[in-house]
Amino acid sequence: MSNSWKLDSWKSRTAHQQPQYGDAGELQDVLDALQKMPPLVTSWEVDNLKHQLAEVEQGQAWLLQGGDCAESFDDCQAESIASKLKVLLQMSLVMIFGAKQKIVRVGRIAGQYAKPRSSDTETRDGCALPAYRGDLINRAGFSIDERRADPQLLLRAYGRSALTLNFIRALSEGGFADLHHPENWELQFVSQCDESARYHKLVEAIEDALQFVDTISSVQSRELRRVDFFTSHEALHLDYEQALTRESVRGCGWYNLGTHFPWIGDRTRALDGAHVEYMRGIRNPIGLKVGPSMRPDQLVEIAKLLNPENEPGRLTLIHRFGVTKLADGLPPLVEILRRYDRRAVWICDPMHGNTLATSSGRKTRKFDDILAELRLAFEVHRDCGSRLSGTHLELTGENVTECVGGAGGLTEDDLHTAYQTNCDPRLNYEQAMEIAFAISESLKPHKTKNR
Ligand code: PEP
Ligand code: CO
Repeated sequence: MSNSWKLDSWKSRTAHQQPQYGDAGELQDVLDALQKMPPLVTSWEVDNLKHQLAEVEQGQAWLLQGGDCAESFDDCQAESIASKLKVLLQMSLVMIFGAKQKIVRVGRIAGQYAKPRSSDTETRDGCALPAYRGDLINRAGFSIDERRADPQLLLRAYGRSALTLNFIRALSEGGFADLHHPENWELQFVSQCDESARYHKLVEAIEDALQFVDTISSVQSRELRRVDFFTSHEALHLDYEQALTRESVRGCGWYNLGTHFPWIGDRTRALDGAHVEYMRGIRNPIGLKVGPSMRPDQLVEIAKLLNPENEPGRLTLIHRFGVTKLADGLPPLVEILRRYDRRAVWICDPMHGNTLATSSGRKTRKFDDILAELRLAFEVHRDCGSRLSGTHLELTGENVTECVGGAGGLTEDDLHTAYQTNCDPRLNYEQAMEIAFAISESLKPHKTKNR
């Protein structure tokens, strides 16, 4: 493999999962326009995240990454964005208390608009149309026009990402994220479950602790009034990603400035493929999904290619085996990285290996499988002498009915009441909080032998 990386050297490789546009000229005009637009994030923020992920790698912090499977343009609304931020902040609060560690928060947000699909077409009642590939590419409605890949959607996605990020920045800089205002941290669900009572106790304990800190220090800490929040998305549509990749004014290389943390999906991680080629040349911290078909020898080669200098915080491996495959699949991968002395942050995505279809054909996931895979991931890493350092979840801050189970006891028959995802089923607000409590238990210092 040649060593010379260029911004478009990925074009000489096979790029899977790319849309086919009818009008190449229109696409080029859109990409030219995007290239001139301001970036969404800065290289300083990106470096800051990489530094924080290096701390995660050292066991000094824990990574919480979560959000929609696919964001939708229609969902770019105040309430929906605020509720996603809120659930991630509340989950991290619970985890900080369990782990007594810093939590690095990364949303699948402000750009998670492109989806890989297992089939190029979707057939309904005998009619086959191109598959929906995310709002970046086409529309979810089932008509020829809606399923056409439309270059103008790239500009709309950039705009929606900027609007979303602008609101997130405003919320996380103060007020909304201020721990001194526990009313902002109220749980919206009033269920009587144990978690709800434990959560209220935790918020009270924080109030007490803050009063104490405020009393003994004359300067009120700005750090307690704001939070860091980073964005991520699957870097799937390479023309779009390239258009938002800029050379640093500090002369330290190329950065994808459309997001802080791009990742490579399980379907596009071929060693000699275009996605790996593009990603190896950018300076961002990057994620790589690792599913059951990843062979240890492939993983070590990809890890060398993506992180040749073995830089801390650069590479996060997001394993997504499924609860039945994790115990056999993970150890050889951990082992080979150790043998070749390749560093990485290991986190568990307990969603994508646990997707099922109901008898009526709806995609769902069992809460119990998700939880079981997460718990198992802690154990397997411990047994391998490595460390589970975070999780990657599909979730929403609303009371959707997409995954079955959890304290609310959602069944298959309930799924139709608020099944809203355009793609994979997400944990709802209550289910997400339950997962946070479970993780916080597993993270309690006395439970982690390898800290
Ligand atoms: C996803 O994260 O939505 C996804 C498609 O995951 P994977 O690449 O692991 O299948
Ligand atoms: Co998904």
